[in-house]
Amino acid sequence: MSLTILNHSLIKHKLTNIRKQETKMKDFYQNVEEIAGLMAYEITREFPLKKVEIETPICKSEQYELANDVVIVPILRAGLGMVEGIRRLIPTAKVGFIGLYRNEETLEPCEYYAKFPDTITNSIVLVVDPMLATGGSASAAITMLKKRGCKDIRYVGLVGAPEGVELLQKDHPDVDVYLAALDEKLNEDGYIVPGLGDCGDRLFGTK
Ligand code: PRP
Ligand code: URA
Repeated sequence: MSLTILNHSLIKHKLTNIRKQETKMKDFYQNVEEIAGLMAYEITREFPLKKVEIETPICKSEQYELANDVVIVPILRAGLGMVEGIRRLIPTAKVGFIGLYRNEETLEPCEYYAKFPDTITNSIVLVVDPMLATGGSASAAITMLKKRGCKDIRYVGLVGAPEGVELLQKDHPDVDVYLAALDEKLNEDGYIVPGLGDCGDRLFGTK
């Protein structure tokens, strides 16, 4: 597994915005979406291309298109905040959904929803979720996708804890992980420190 922390000044700046306690829902959502778009721009830099023959208004010409379909799979709810930022860059990307929530006492992920496009098995799958805490949700989501036959899965998160990275490394050594920041640790309630609090609640105004 490779771990890439996307070192980009705009990503860092926007991440600071969402870490601030005083940032309200609308700005929080907008910054999450923008960070996801910037991350997608960096991650797709080396996506495989295929040659295609086209006609410009002037002549026939050999050019390039993305070789693979892309499917974005947000882990509900917080992953939804990242989808539109990525779709803006890859408008042909289809979207699948995995519903998982953490049991607040055990921190174990509980599945409540799954829906995927038929083409997912032969696509590049981007699993998106802003928070990689214990890693339980990300690992369970990736296991579900592998059971459906997905072979090229990449995990894209905003803030990760070392514990989550370690779990993904152990459970899914074949999956590349991209984060905007690797934070210090988890606290006793399973929140990332310094983190940004409860991402789902801050995106959608619950609590
Ligand atoms: C949050 C977050 C991740 C998960 C990370 O979701 O969006 O999915 O916790 O924690 P983990 O790495 O320890 O599994 P939550 O369970 O709070 O659900 P929500 O998005 O519906 O609020
Ligand atoms: N989920 C969140 O929303 N925030 C954390 O810090 C950990 C899990």
